[in-house]
Amino acid sequence: MVSRKASRVRKVLLWAQPVRVPMRICVIGAGYVGLATGVMFGKLGHQVVCGDIDPARVKTVSSGKLPFYEPPLEKELSKLVKSGRLTATSDCVSAARTSEFVFLCVQTPSLPSGRIDIRSVKNASGSVGKALKKSKDYKVIVMKSTVVPSTTDSVVLPILESHSGKKAGVDFGLCMNPEFLQEGSALKDSMEPSRIVIGSMDKRAGDMLSKLYAPIKVEKIRTDLRSAEMIKYASNTFLATKISYANEIANMCVRFGIDSDTVLRAAGMDPRIGRLFLKPGLGFGGSCLPKDVKALKDIARQKGYKSRLLPTLLTINEMQPVEGIQLLESEIGSVRGKRIAVLGLAFKGGVDDTRETRAVPLVTGLLARGASVVAYDPMAMGNFIKLMPTIEYASSAGECLDGADGCIVQADWPQFRKLGRKEFTRMKRAVIVDGRRFLDPAHIETSGATYLGVGYGLARPGKVGKS
Ligand code: UDX
Ligand code: UDX
Repeated sequence: MVSRKASRVRKVLLWAQPVRVPMRICVIGAGYVGLATGVMFGKLGHQVVCGDIDPARVKTVSSGKLPFYEPPLEKELSKLVKSGRLTATSDCVSAARTSEFVFLCVQTPSLPSGRIDIRSVKNASGSVGKALKKSKDYKVIVMKSTVVPSTTDSVVLPILESHSGKKAGVDFGLCMNPEFLQEGSALKDSMEPSRIVIGSMDKRAGDMLSKLYAPIKVEKIRTDLRSAEMIKYASNTFLATKISYANEIANMCVRFGIDSDTVLRAAGMDPRIGRLFLKPGLGFGGSCLPKDVKALKDIARQKGYKSRLLPTLLTINEMQPVEGIQLLESEIGSVRGKRIAVLGLAFKGGVDDTRETRAVPLVTGLLARGASVVAYDPMAMGNFIKLMPTIEYASSAGECLDGADGCIVQADWPQFRKLGRKEFTRMKRAVIVDGRRFLDPAHIETSGATYLGVGYGLARPGKVGKS
């Protein structure tokens, strides 16, 4: 028990000094965002408790392990758990009750309509409301999950107030603080973000959150709750726009016999355009980009604005796996009756996440055209089998290529760059479609295989779609 005097000293320290006082931080939702946030604050010297309704996740995190593949984050998590600075519990109410900051990091997946499912947000807000009721101290509640503008003030806030009987902006603070982390570099992106956005409904809460982030030296944008929510959508839909634009240009380049790599690299050198996220491929997947484009399109329509850009991004994205199949067919003819190897099932290389992976429409498209599919991924096979249980799986990339009439590489795992003559000679017909433009065409061709890349028209101009 902390004595009353000690608690008073602590409060004085908190308000009076720029000195870093360790805070008690609760993160609700032990997923990518929650654990990256928790580990970041643990590394900054705070005491972190991760609350999750899934007891299996709690057990995993309590043993210093991650429920997903992200090695640098797991290494730091393990150290924090060992030192006792990070704990996990399924009692989210108690975890929130004993904390000064509570971060809501639960998932907000897409419903079939494109609208986001905020059931988890409501559930977690209810737990935090109960915690507020049981606590005498002022707390700052921080919404980190991606939610459409107005969710924090019109859904989260009333739940917190009704469950606690307390007033937001007076008895507790409410902020919206979107995350911008990429899977594969979740911890680095949290510790070294490009900006920190702090939306708050009252100055006190915003100031406290800003102070918590003080050790991270980057521009902090202070704004209102709705703008903070919108910044996340503006960012992710722009990234999706860049990718779909790159894919559109790439699809044209290949038909002109031009290599889109040179074209997009040169275009991206203009600082107004920028080089990043201009890589053509089989489309964007993952837990955020597709979902966020759909959600913004949906909420805009609800508000009476029919977006013309966002549906187009999605249409281009849906067509990219077909583009990859056509590229293969331009070389081997119809895939009907042929054995096609698909390498890489995660939504990108380096992760085991298969949410919205383009491997699903790719495999579905191949099957619909009468191909038989054999697939392999270094880390994501367990997750992918749940999505597509009936196709054939291989236990290595070499085995996957065995007897194949062609191969499409869907995710940019670095180890696929090492595939060479030894593996290609196992194929019935050594044709490799680089669906992410990360393989070395010269290495593949000198290893005895035919290289075809999305947006790579130099080798075989104008053949796409003519098979
Ligand atoms: C995050 C989000 O915050 C989402 O809004 C954003 O768009 C993408 O990133 P993510 O970290 O990927 O989601 O979610 P996930 O890996 O699914 O983890 C969420 C966790 O919250 C799960 O472990 C789940 O069990 C937990 N949860 C869910 C709770 O603890 N309480 C709930 O009420 C619901
Ligand atoms: C994304 C955002 O980048 C991040 O800021 C946000 O917080 C969460 O969503 P992530 O889901 O980890 O991060 O994936 P990201 O690395 O952005 O890639 C998304 C998809 O786009 C992948 O399928 C990837 O292969 C594809 N992509 C990315 C391209 O096709 N071309 C590119 O140039 C970049």
